[in-house]
Amino acid sequence: MSRSRTSSGAGELLVPLRRDSTVPLHQQVARGIRDRIRQGLLPADAVVPSTRALAADLGLSRGVVVEAYQQLVAEGYLVSRTGGYTQVAPAAARELPVPRTEPMSGGSPRIDFRYSRPDVSQFPRAAWLRSIRKVLTETPHDRLAYLDGRGAIELREALAAYLNRVRGTSARAENLLISNGFAQGSRLLLQVLAASGFRRLAVEDPSDDELRAVAAAAGLEAVGVPVLDSGVDVEALERSGADVVLVTAAHQFPTGAVTSAQTRAALVDWAGRRDALIVEDDYDAEYRYDREPIGAIQGLAPDRVVYAGTASKTLAPGLRLGWLILPAHLVEAMSSAKVVDDRGSSVLDQLTFADFVARGEFDRHLRRMRPRYRRLRDTLVDRLAEQLPDLRPVGISAGLHVTTWLPPDLSEQAVAQAALERGVGVYGLAPYWVDAGPAGLVFGYGGLTEQAVVEGIDALAAAVAAVRSTPSID
Ligand SMILES: Cc1ncc(COP(=O)(O)O)c(C=O)c1O
Repeated sequence: MSRSRTSSGAGELLVPLRRDSTVPLHQQVARGIRDRIRQGLLPADAVVPSTRALAADLGLSRGVVVEAYQQLVAEGYLVSRTGGYTQVAPAAARELPVPRTEPMSGGSPRIDFRYSRPDVSQFPRAAWLRSIRKVLTETPHDRLAYLDGRGAIELREALAAYLNRVRGTSARAENLLISNGFAQGSRLLLQVLAASGFRRLAVEDPSDDELRAVAAAAGLEAVGVPVLDSGVDVEALERSGADVVLVTAAHQFPTGAVTSAQTRAALVDWAGRRDALIVEDDYDAEYRYDREPIGAIQGLAPDRVVYAGTASKTLAPGLRLGWLILPAHLVEAMSSAKVVDDRGSSVLDQLTFADFVARGEFDRHLRRMRPRYRRLRDTLVDRLAEQLPDLRPVGISAGLHVTTWLPPDLSEQAVAQAALERGVGVYGLAPYWVDAGPAGLVFGYGGLTEQAVVEGIDALAAAVAAVRSTPSID
């Protein structure tokens, strides 16, 4: 049952609470207030109720509200004032780093390091057009009818062959399912798992925040498990009591950690002993620059792993093409779930992509893009080293983003705000932590030019210098 209560005292505060939710109450209170600040409904400098007043009003223990306020102070949304009151931080409303899919407030930055953008200007239009033409010319009419829930067989065959060759998977066309990107594939999967008795999903901490919301909506409890340099902490996973874990093993999102061979084996061992499932989100493994290729975990244990891939990083996110390799026991339920959800993804797009992959155009496109992204990555890392040597980059060997930790004197919010004032969008790690963690920035560079990267980092260096020269207000 959903309940909303309004606090009295210094400014009324509507905080929706779901007491039957598995999300702890302090996180619900923090989220309720954070959302209102982001939406501009709680303006800068607004005084929020005392912890005592809000706790009494919501029927919560004061400790719960204190914890929520502490979290929001740490994230830069609230400031505690001497005199015992708490205010919305002056720069917080509307201008804090926001999750990757929310529109940028305060105007679009001239140079945007927002994560998750490939260079869509490089979409292989000519080759794609050849495939479209062939498909439209040769596809018999009856193939335009409703589809098998798993998708077009041609695409499943082409992807199975490609993934087995390039990612070391053990895929067969009958185990593949085509979805509208990872977003739909993961949502359907979590719903199917919840319906078949799975209860607790372990996610990497930090990790994609949207997936946790999807898990909660599906009725799964999401718990965070720390990420080490070698991948997810399997001992913590053991303790978590989870029956399914989601990992970004090839290039952890967002820290960039690469899961070691030992951790991959330990994960498979854990899944076997616990009769559990591993979901492997292989979202950007095609871009690997200066390390050995690392095969997918799915190849080690096809019965224990759901492998997820997407065209969003390699071709274009707007295509909405993703795929899952499923253990045999999940195929039927997932296929039905896909049919119920949307009757299948566009058959013409699937057949076009199948032809594109089968003719080797996908490989050619990736071979062309890898050196471009690598140059961008090098430019970013080199410029950071020159201009901001104390922003330590991690996880740089793959993908389309670089993460840097921030030194203790810099807050994500202050740096993001000062950068935005200079026309540059940079984004903090805060949304990705399950439990609070160190401050950092995620730089997406896929959609930028080398010149924009250089100018962006130079402007960021000026922003950092400005933050450092501004006395902090306590
Ligand atoms: C961790 C992660 N996985 C997968 C995806 C791809 O999602 P989709 O295929 O729905 O575009 C993204 C997109 O940014 C991502 O950040």
